Amino acid sequence: MTRLLSIVLPLLFLAQAGCGSQPYPAGLAYPARTDPIVFQLPLNPPDGPPPAGKLDEFIAGLNDRGGRVLNPADLPAEQKAKLQEILGELFGTPAAPMVATGDDDGREHVERLRLLPDTLTAGSLLYKKFCLQCHGLTGDGRGPTGQWVYPAPRDLRQGIYKYVSSVGSAARKPTRADLHRVLIVGIDRTSMPPFTLLSDAEREQLVSFTIYLGLRGEVEYRILYGLLSQSDEMDDDLAVEARSLLRSALRQWVRADEERITPKMMPTPEDPNQRITEAHLESVRRGQRIFANTAVGCIACHTDYGRQARYLYDSWGSSVRVSDLTEGAYRGGKTPLDLFQRIHGGIGASGMPAATSLTEEQTWDLVHFILALPVPSMLPADVRGLVYPGK
Ligand code: HEC
Ligand code: HEC
Repeated sequence: MTRLLSIVLPLLFLAQAGCGSQPYPAGLAYPARTDPIVFQLPLNPPDGPPPAGKLDEFIAGLNDRGGRVLNPADLPAEQKAKLQEILGELFGTPAAPMVATGDDDGREHVERLRLLPDTLTAGSLLYKKFCLQCHGLTGDGRGPTGQWVYPAPRDLRQGIYKYVSSVGSAARKPTRADLHRVLIVGIDRTSMPPFTLLSDAEREQLVSFTIYLGLRGEVEYRILYGLLSQSDEMDDDLAVEARSLLRSALRQWVRADEERITPKMMPTPEDPNQRITEAHLESVRRGQRIFANTAVGCIACHTDYGRQARYLYDSWGSSVRVSDLTEGAYRGGKTPLDLFQRIHGGIGASGMPAATSLTEEQTWDLVHFILALPVPSMLPADVRGLVYPGK
């Protein structure tokens, strides 16, 4: 009996561990989007995070707080079926994902973004094994584990991201390198883990698949948004509209990969012990003055340097806590360049504006102040007195 168990038990474990890598059933289709869509956020900020497991109720509740959401359930059944059919034609299924653009430009973009069927099929399997429990089958951020963590896993549909280094407006797409970085280091002090044990090739397949879910979700989102808000800018033929939306989203993704926020100088000493020279401390001092300048605005949101908990609505209709910058935890990366890109480009999806009116030198002053802020001994005595009164 014990011998039998010693054979059967490991086999059971093997079967379990292998579960996640089982292919998807060929007949499985992506389900239609049913969760509420933000049309307009309320003017007054939220008091705190959504209650655990109640994200959709929280978003639907924006209607009662002066905002407005659109409900996909209001769509006539016929339009719903048509949309599902079009999405299936353009993007395939979890077992056989693809991006069908139907023209040469589109095909070139698909190749450049590495969205060919083989890569996507490999990415889809890895996603099932490592990401689905949080980010959900369609990338809606509502996987079985996802409902219970805060901040919620990213809703990858719509192709909106937070930690983006590309140049452009608040809604710009991330570069492939941005997405790859998130998979290597994870997101500090959230449940998003680092995937260090995967190979570079596997992470690249996951990046491709993430872009794919973003494209698919964005086409679905824009069509639902247009139909439910009765926009007259949509083509009457939904298939034509979907193809044109896909083409423009592909162009945005390609553009994002072309230019990153790149400062002309990199004045931060590599070694933190070198950050005590008079010239560096003078930069920290200027940084604090810029931060506390009400015309610049940092301090208005990061009240008391972020120690006071304040919340804003994010682009998905959930709420996000304004960072406590005395803690020294940075979700978008902790190198000086990461922080430069964050401040210069803003975190549009979280409501943090881009600080594009500041000069490069002023932005570096802010980076130097922020890097020193969590460690009172790194601050010049006069600044320490202002930030940590009594210390
Ligand atoms: C245990 C839950 C969990 C798992 C598993 C997980 N994530 Fe995440 N992920 C999160 C959370 C939480 C966030 C959002 C953090 C935030 O808002 O700052 C996130 C954010 C992201 C982002 C957004 C980055 C940005 O700039 O906005 C991407 C991309 C991402 N995850 C991809 C993946 C991929 C690919 C996998 C699988 C290899 C994965 N995640 C597995 C929880 C998870
Ligand atoms: C309108 C409100 C608002 C303003 C103004 C604002 N921030 Fe933020 N900031 C936020 C929010 C919200 C977050 C948290 C984003 C998240 O976690 O999704 C944040 C996060 C940060 C982070 C952490 C980034 C990371 O990777 O985790 C830094 C650094 C930062 N802000 C610096 C600044 C500086 C410097 C200024 C002024 C130039 C500024 N902020 C202005 C709202 C604001």
